[in-house]
Amino acid sequence: MIFTVAIDGPAAAGKGTISREVAARFGFAHLDTGLLYRAVGVLGGDPAQAARTLRPEDLTRADLRSLEAGQAASRVAAIPEVRAALVDFQRRFARRPGGAVLDGRDIGTVICPEAEAKLYVTASPQVRAHRRWCEVGGDEANVLAEVQERDARDMGRANAPLRPAQDAVILDTSAMTIDEAVARAVAVIAARRGEHPYA
Ligand code: CDP
Repeated sequence: MIFTVAIDGPAAAGKGTISREVAARFGFAHLDTGLLYRAVGVLGGDPAQAARTLRPEDLTRADLRSLEAGQAASRVAAIPEVRAALVDFQRRFARRPGGAVLDGRDIGTVICPEAEAKLYVTASPQVRAHRRWCEVGGDEANVLAEVQERDARDMGRANAPLRPAQDAVILDTSAMTIDEAVARAVAVIAARRGEHPYA
């Protein structure tokens, strides 16, 4: 069985949590594609070369979740050669037997336009910044500025900009608990699979 769930959206929208829960619920593999760009960003050197030679252990580094790694990721993510080097790996993952959930910025638009289910998860910048601040601490205004700067760069780049796919279901989680957001996502995917969500 091949079934791809594409989950895109802006920084700290809750894509990661929703993706993990959805993958567990349906028994799908999960790939957080942001980690690929974060790893390329923190590795330094020539970003295109780093993307071409990325190793599995690069994705388990402890420093990938920092605000600095997020900034570095969004800078290297605007380089067409970096994106091109990561396409095949993501597409193979998406079409692996047994089903896959990929979360990122361009999964439903560029990596897997044929994905069976597409979600665009978003929330207001203030809500997203607050959620990220709960994870990383520090100055909340600083976290908001980081989130907004990254969104502007991700949406404004020429190559694979962040935007909802035409056939994506938009999930605005500003006023939802994580459980509500997960339940909505599960319902969308179950419907695409012709299942009852709580079967
Ligand atoms: O967790 P958060 O939403 O803050 O970020 P992430 O998903 O880890 O992505 C970090 C950065 O990588 C983003 O700001 C994008 O610039 C880039 N990225 C991308 O361009 N394409 C993807 N499919 C995933 C991430």
